[in-house]
Amino acid sequence: MRMKAEERVSQITAQQWELLRAQLERETGMDLAGSRFSRLQSAVAKVLSLHPHWLPDGEHLEEQLPPVFVEQVTAELTVGESFFFRNHTHFDALRNHVLPTILAEKASRREIRLWSAGCAGGEEPYSLAILLDQMLLGQQPWQITILGTDLSPPFLERARQGWYRPWSFRHTQIHQDTRYFEPREGGYQLDRRICEQVRFSYLNLVKDAFPSPLNGTVGMDLICFRNVAIYLKPEVTAAILRRFWDALRPGGWLLLGETELNHAEIAPYEVRRFNAATFFQKPPAAHADLVPMAPPRPAFAAGGWPGITVPIVPPVPDWVPLPGAGGQPASASPALLTPPAPHALGAPNQLGTASQGMGKSAAATVATAQPEAEPLPVADPRQRAQGRLQLAHSLLLQAQTAEARRQVELALQDDPMLVEGYILQAGLAEDAGDLAAAEGACRRALYLNRRCCLAHFHLSLVQQQKGEMAAAAKSLRTLRELIEQRDPHELVEYGDGMCYGRLRELIQMLGLADQT
Ligand SMILES: C[S@@+](CC[C@H](N)C(=O)[O-])C[C@H]1O[C@@H](n2cnc3c(N)ncnc32)[C@H](O)[C@@H]1O
Repeated sequence: MRMKAEERVSQITAQQWELLRAQLERETGMDLAGSRFSRLQSAVAKVLSLHPHWLPDGEHLEEQLPPVFVEQVTAELTVGESFFFRNHTHFDALRNHVLPTILAEKASRREIRLWSAGCAGGEEPYSLAILLDQMLLGQQPWQITILGTDLSPPFLERARQGWYRPWSFRHTQIHQDTRYFEPREGGYQLDRRICEQVRFSYLNLVKDAFPSPLNGTVGMDLICFRNVAIYLKPEVTAAILRRFWDALRPGGWLLLGETELNHAEIAPYEVRRFNAATFFQKPPAAHADLVPMAPPRPAFAAGGWPGITVPIVPPVPDWVPLPGAGGQPASASPALLTPPAPHALGAPNQLGTASQGMGKSAAATVATAQPEAEPLPVADPRQRAQGRLQLAHSLLLQAQTAEARRQVELALQDDPMLVEGYILQAGLAEDAGDLAAAEGACRRALYLNRRCCLAHFHLSLVQQQKGEMAAAAKSLRTLRELIEQRDPHELVEYGDGMCYGRLRELIQMLGLADQT
């Protein structure tokens, strides 16, 4: 097997390497030219040593590369190195300034949402969980959501185990604290209570749609994006930072590593310094113009990113959403592009169109409902349900998850046939770790529409999390059949910008659909 792979690599001509490099750059957002080219060659060799059949041979090299191959080469190229309480200045500032500010602001709701984007083996999100646990000692319980995402399934699996070698504690003594760790098999096992506070999931920051309630990346109080963008092109890092802006609640915080700081065009975040630590804050008033019954206008039309209008609903990305990658633009979702129907809350039209910041030319409608507002009385329950769903989306942007969940439930009481409502309900239940409720919501969506791709997809994710692998494989196979004929650039219904091409890639990556 090993020889075969080496032979395969040695057969690749200089011209074919160039094709490979160009295609991988387009797919991953990485800069693989110059001195990085030799890293690419080693990564390709390593992946082929495990799966020699993944790379199309000879003249077929210029065809689309298999997604699993691209994803594994990307994972090989990235560094998965992390350790607990990495960068003490960051954690001191979190402990003394940033988290106390967030906790004070959220004291009445007692909900806090943190995201470690590019979490590797979980040391970073678990450090946040431990820090919060120490800070909230003796207080009434909080609804704590800590999300760890990465593109490497093996890293995510390691993170879920919560077992670490001594090297993961090279700058801290936290493993000596028996409230959190117990020595086991030459390493340290993190306490189950802390493990259960962090939800790990796959998310490729370059290719996947966010923010979205469907993957829990909305209304964040804090996003950590540290030591991830090492090989990314500066414009790709900038695009990710723009999306983080959308994923943060007003007043939310962004923490970058040195790598990201070097590349980042960071305005319009406000720079906040605490001793040697630099944080970036989305101004608390960033959504202050979201008043009900305001005349339609693009969100952030004034004072946003230079030359870019940032929509407050998830942008419609290209299938492979790299700025200037030259990929075919996504066909715009009819739901997003058609002029809005008379407003469901009974108020004058509260929707506006904003030109697309991340994609090519697509535009997105912008919900501007005042999050605190109750929908106005509307006689038609179906219209009222639509209004409530829209309100739920606005609440999520403001990190008011519990109230958003309530609005979705009320919407479904108003209109029990609202497939979109069940999809959102499933996403919110997954976010809260309630797998039974998530499964129930997916099944209700499928009862109403057997062909609802997103419901099949989420059902399979839930089934996997429950360890029901055969059922998960079956759901994915059904989904694969459903999307076989779809245009890869077409947007998935209710998918918050996900295209069928990416959905197909994800099915392939999950690998389960091929199992019987
Ligand atoms: C060096 S680790 C950083 C871990 C942690 N943030 C820290 O600072 O200790 C970089 C991680 O970013 C992940 N990564 C790189 N590119 C990514 C992408 N496009 N989407 C999601 N994760 C990515 C890698 O898989 C790796 O686990």
